[in-house]
Amino acid sequence: MFSHDIIIVGSGLAGLRAAMEVAGHYDVAVLTKVYPSRSHSGAAQGGVAAALSNVDGDTPEAHIYDTVKGADYLGDQDAIEIMCNDAPRTIIEMEHFGCAFSRTQENRIAQRAFGGHSFQRACFSADRTGHALLHTLFEQTMKRSGKLQIYSEWYVTRLIVRDGVCRGVVAMDIKTGRTEVFHGRAVLFGTGGYGRAYQITSNAYANTGDGITAAYRAGLPLMDMEFVQFHPTGLYQHGILLSEAARGEGGYLLNGNNERFMGKYAPTKMELGPRDIVSRSAQTEINEGRGAGPKKDYVLLDLRHLGRDKILERLPQIYHLAKDFLGVDALDEPVPITPTAHYSMGGIPTDNDCQALADEKGGKVTGFFAAGECACVSVHGANRLGTNSLLEAMVFGRRAGKKLAEVTSSLPLSPVSEKEELAAARREVDLILHNKATEDLATIRNELREAMTNKVGVYRNAGDMEAAHEKIKELQDRFTRVKVTGGAKFNTNLVEALELSHTLEYSELIVAGAQARQESRGAHARDDFPKRDDQNWMKHTMAFRRPEGGFELRYKPVRVTRFQPEERKY
Ligand code: FUM
Repeated sequence: MFSHDIIIVGSGLAGLRAAMEVAGHYDVAVLTKVYPSRSHSGAAQGGVAAALSNVDGDTPEAHIYDTVKGADYLGDQDAIEIMCNDAPRTIIEMEHFGCAFSRTQENRIAQRAFGGHSFQRACFSADRTGHALLHTLFEQTMKRSGKLQIYSEWYVTRLIVRDGVCRGVVAMDIKTGRTEVFHGRAVLFGTGGYGRAYQITSNAYANTGDGITAAYRAGLPLMDMEFVQFHPTGLYQHGILLSEAARGEGGYLLNGNNERFMGKYAPTKMELGPRDIVSRSAQTEINEGRGAGPKKDYVLLDLRHLGRDKILERLPQIYHLAKDFLGVDALDEPVPITPTAHYSMGGIPTDNDCQALADEKGGKVTGFFAAGECACVSVHGANRLGTNSLLEAMVFGRRAGKKLAEVTSSLPLSPVSEKEELAAARREVDLILHNKATEDLATIRNELREAMTNKVGVYRNAGDMEAAHEKIKELQDRFTRVKVTGGAKFNTNLVEALELSHTLEYSELIVAGAQARQESRGAHARDDFPKRDDQNWMKHTMAFRRPEGGFELRYKPVRVTRFQPEERKY
């Protein structure tokens, strides 16, 4: 058994920022499924939002309003205020840590336009902003490496919670296959999102919702799981992100008739409407037969008018992605794109200091915290504005770290039965390794992802969602006969099976939350309930696992501080 005061799971921006706060004060372990600089925060491209004084007229107040409205009024406004007010400090801090932001002619931090923001508010490093921020925080963490221990390629499969107190985690060393209990006073999850439930997604292979599932299986609720964000400009057939920065820099969206279709849907903001509206618009063009290409199944991102210098200086990564994956030279031709599953608004409910909630009434789980995409605090409500996720991860990662620094010494190191925990972890693995082995893992995974993309995508309706639900039940059953090959050591097939068991479990919650919510709000757009219904649905969904099997949905009110819901017009 390993023992540390604080166990941080995940080494993206949230996990590393928290680690920096506590390293040196406590004995800290950071466990991560991938090497830290491979964390998915590094895939974020276009920017991180902050109302710096660089842009005339912008204020944190305006950022708060844009975020509340962008969230389709499902965000908790006190949490949004914390995030937007702390944004300028966060950017300056990252600059002082050494992050190389792109600059203006006057050598200030450059800021570009982004969807749903009423000012040019996105600070950026070309179109590799997440990469620049992640490497900066990794360097800062390494500076403190004598004071914390990083366990790379350790896969956390269980969260240990007994009698409302978190006592640690169980993790597998992927390299050797050995499983160990990590005993701690406090645990923080910064384990990222769950977009790999979808076939067309911008998410890394690792984003299989392991953290949220471990929390759920330990008895914690999951909140707002039905809100999965679709980014409008995923590379056709691959889903790889082509940053919104492309539109922030002036790129157009065209349909198969060469029309800038956003004029119909968001006449004021055009391509810089919020993501939910732009994704719905692109999908509507495709669904109504105005797509491009032989199958009319994509729309186009046109950058040609921006010119070579701007494209190569400001958007080098997406230029190369289009070239390498589709063979399209964006200097000369528009790039085929479709909406792609991009961001998980739902996750582990927390208070504003990142402590996990045990129920819809505000009860807490002692010693368990979550921050970043795996958490639902909830600053993004029904639809996140681009550039607010990197911000959230750093603001709330730091807040989590500060809270941990304050409370950990008073948390008990509650006893853990190593034998029982290892036996429980072993049972999970045995169910996978020792069964009839007649079902192919990749086939089950593909069928799940196709069902989620086709039936629970940008648009949903009762019939499609019921079909997806039945498919998930069928796949859960087939998974009990899944075939896994390979031995104990470095068995990536076993890791993929564990990931798939997580994906199969939480996908059911995405569908159930979406089936229950009879309205359209943000990323949850129903053909059969096309309007937002504040009277009945301005509330958060909370899914609780029943020990006897199945789950139950309960609801929690949204916290409104100053902005009453209004019709969203862009
Ligand atoms: O389009 C993008 O660059 C994505 C940014 C984000 O999701 O915040």
